[in-house]
Amino acid sequence: MTVRELQDKIIKLKKETNTAILAHSYQAREIVEIADFTGDSYKLSVDATKTDAENIIFCGVHFMAETAKMLSPQKRVFLANKDAGCPMAEQMDKDLISQIHAMEPDRTVVAYINTTAELKTVCDVCVTSSSALRIVRALDNDKLLFIPDCNLGSWVQAQCPEKDIKLLSGGCPTHAALTVAEVKKAKEEHPDALFLVHPECVPAVVALADYAGSTSGIMKFAMESDAKEFIIGTETSIAEHLQYECPDKKFYPVTKNIVCRNMKLTTLPDVYNTLAGMDSGEAFEILMSDELIASARKCIDEMIRLGG
Ligand code: 13P
Ligand code: SF4
Repeated sequence: MTVRELQDKIIKLKKETNTAILAHSYQAREIVEIADFTGDSYKLSVDATKTDAENIIFCGVHFMAETAKMLSPQKRVFLANKDAGCPMAEQMDKDLISQIHAMEPDRTVVAYINTTAELKTVCDVCVTSSSALRIVRALDNDKLLFIPDCNLGSWVQAQCPEKDIKLLSGGCPTHAALTVAEVKKAKEEHPDALFLVHPECVPAVVALADYAGSTSGIMKFAMESDAKEFIIGTETSIAEHLQYECPDKKFYPVTKNIVCRNMKLTTLPDVYNTLAGMDSGEAFEILMSDELIASARKCIDEMIRLGG
């Protein structure tokens, strides 16, 4: 069967089963093409609440599907590939953060959305990379504990010197692996290109950027810019999607190694099998108790209340 034929079967089946497909922008092109909603973590969490579909299939990683379930508990939410987790989301647990917070209880606990639902139950407010600055600035308290990504936290701290932000040692292994030497090499190869970077990269790499921002921020900047060439300092799929959207511009992934293996686990057959297995119990459904949802979503509601 060709990719196009499988995509057609998926499109037909999702209509018959009243299912919406949400795909993070790090997914492969063939998955993005059959999705009802695509975007970064923040956009997708809002999109999940907007759809009238009874079922949601998430093409991304586990914490994203959990977030969709928390925001739409009446819907059935499935993760297209049950093994797709985010290593950063698993780096810190509830007990560790509760102990650290107990030492300085006057700090507001700010959690990147890339955390488990269990950990969110002991956090005060969530942020995504596109909302982190806005939310931190909107908080009344100036003393914060920002978890788990110390690179995103450092980026926020640099722009909010009035805040006292305690950071722990955690982060995205995919973005944190990008080195200054790799960026300098890419800049030498493409001297006319602007360098756009995700703040999950280390501060020394972010310091070399012409623009730093979330996945959707990078895409928006590149699409609206008058410049013609860009080095993309985030997951390689973003350079691919941008090249497709803007054929008259040139996009270079900063290295070919900046690939999130977890995001790339999901395949088109996974999406089809999930659609076909929703009623037989073969698909991977996100199941959470009402208590966990109520407790974990407080910090997401707080993020939305403060302006997303
Ligand atoms: P955003 O989608 O918020 O830009 O985050 C990037 C990422 O690493 C998602 O896991
Ligand atoms: Fe997690 Fe990084 Fe992959 Fe995003 S890119 S899912 S933060 S490991």
